[in-house]
Amino acid sequence: MTAASDQPEPQDAPWWKKAVLYQVYPRSFADSNADGIGDLQGIIDRLEHLEWLGVDGIWLSPITVSPNADWGYDVADYRAVQPDLGTMETFDDLVARAHERRIRVLLDIVPNHTSERHPWFVRSRSSTTDPMRDWYVWADPKPDGSSPNNWVSSFGGPAWTLDPNTGQYYLHNHLAEQPDLNWWNEGVRAEFDDIFRFWFDRGVAGFRIDVCNIIVKDARLRDNPPATADDDFDAQLFGQRPVFNGNRPEVHDVIRRWRRLAESYDAPRVLVGETPVKIDKLVEYYGDGSDELNLAFNFPFITAPLDAGAMRQVVEDTEAQLPPGAWPAWTGSNHDMSRFASRWAGGDEDKARLALLMLLCLRGTPVLYQGDEIGLCDSPVDKDDLRDPLGVRYWPAYAGRDAMRTPMPWREGPGGGFTEPGTRPWLPLGPTARCNVEQQRSDPGSMLVLARDLIALRRTHPELQTGRYETVSAPDGVWAWRRGDGVAVALNMSDRPVDLDGTAGRVCISTHRAGDGRAFDDRLTLRGWEGVVAEISP
Ligand code: NOJ
Ligand code: CA
Repeated sequence: MTAASDQPEPQDAPWWKKAVLYQVYPRSFADSNADGIGDLQGIIDRLEHLEWLGVDGIWLSPITVSPNADWGYDVADYRAVQPDLGTMETFDDLVARAHERRIRVLLDIVPNHTSERHPWFVRSRSSTTDPMRDWYVWADPKPDGSSPNNWVSSFGGPAWTLDPNTGQYYLHNHLAEQPDLNWWNEGVRAEFDDIFRFWFDRGVAGFRIDVCNIIVKDARLRDNPPATADDDFDAQLFGQRPVFNGNRPEVHDVIRRWRRLAESYDAPRVLVGETPVKIDKLVEYYGDGSDELNLAFNFPFITAPLDAGAMRQVVEDTEAQLPPGAWPAWTGSNHDMSRFASRWAGGDEDKARLALLMLLCLRGTPVLYQGDEIGLCDSPVDKDDLRDPLGVRYWPAYAGRDAMRTPMPWREGPGGGFTEPGTRPWLPLGPTARCNVEQQRSDPGSMLVLARDLIALRRTHPELQTGRYETVSAPDGVWAWRRGDGVAVALNMSDRPVDLDGTAGRVCISTHRAGDGRAFDDRLTLRGWEGVVAEISP
């Protein structure tokens, strides 16, 4: 048993600890007006699906004004809705309609950078003496005219672009169209407090915070150290460790400030951080367990192979290192990292079902990505249809992130229920016949019904929501754990059947549904790649 989960969480725990969250990628969820682009009205029209599935909250990838150099992650106005997606009125309606179905709405905020077309940057780049100059990170060239330091963008290439007008370089940790804000500037901090309030006051339940680990940069702009053979893939790829262009200790002051703001609301708002860092750093973003992020995405888990030992290790390490009171978040897919039905399961439905059960039965808040509930796979996009700037730039070495952003297949046939049959969607639909919501909803054996049943089981078995996590010893290739005293989970992550001995109980849900309800007395036999959640005798 591990430190963080020694004490069970009380059942009156805040809603987000008991919740299942669901990421909506609005451009690809549902198109209500047949222009090929998913929109806010489309989300309203599909709330029935989300309520039926049983999710408690949705987070929406950016819906604010953007020239779409990086599809919404380059914001040109933080307080207005992107016209392609709808209006503020429709947004308010979405929040109200979702609340009627007891679904909270969280938004995505991008504090690290803006669009180069944001009026703040337009002013900032206009002259070295403009009052907004200091809102972004500007620096003089080296004497030979080259970049101020060696930092590279996480999208590849130098993180600095020379602005010929003023003769200085500006910093961008992503595209040149995404200049980084200067979080040492108090004006920037105050402005974002106000942006948070703007949306909180409209009933937004919280924010997913884009790359929140990198917003504060080294004040002296020191060179990053070279990567070593022990460093991870990204560091090796870029040839340096991202020590100074982000991940600075002072970022925690900003996150604590945001948490105070979020807690000043009744009900307190929730902060979910995008934190692509190792576990020892990840846990720091929870602060003392109650004063920084509520939830932090666990990238070592997302990138682990679907292997019993590897995944158990990530979970145990996370549980052991989290401060008291802190709450994990578990996710397998998002709009950047590919879908777990492909990445973990390689398109094998048994494996995808097991992964789904795993996500929904760990201690923590599961966050599904649209399509996870039907086991949707990545859908590769032809070169001519690529939309992600990274795919456009690096194809064929890297095809970018479009394959995990293709439209949601609601039903079979042209348009897939995403858009009208005669409309060309902004990204091509994958094949709709094999995997779609309509067909799975009428099939009691489908992955969609499995997802719904597992989510419902969390409500009837509160230990699945708040019970402590404890690893149970199991044969090689099997990962098993207990939730509280009365629930156990076992995943056979191997091709061959295995016997688990020493426990009696009853299977509530098996990933192969014919196994639901089977009682076992001392021995439970699992098929290859079968996962079960069971009630056990204490
Ligand atoms: C992370 C977002 O999820 C990704 O889509 C985006 O490109 C970068 N941050 C930059 O905002
Ligand atoms: Ca539309």
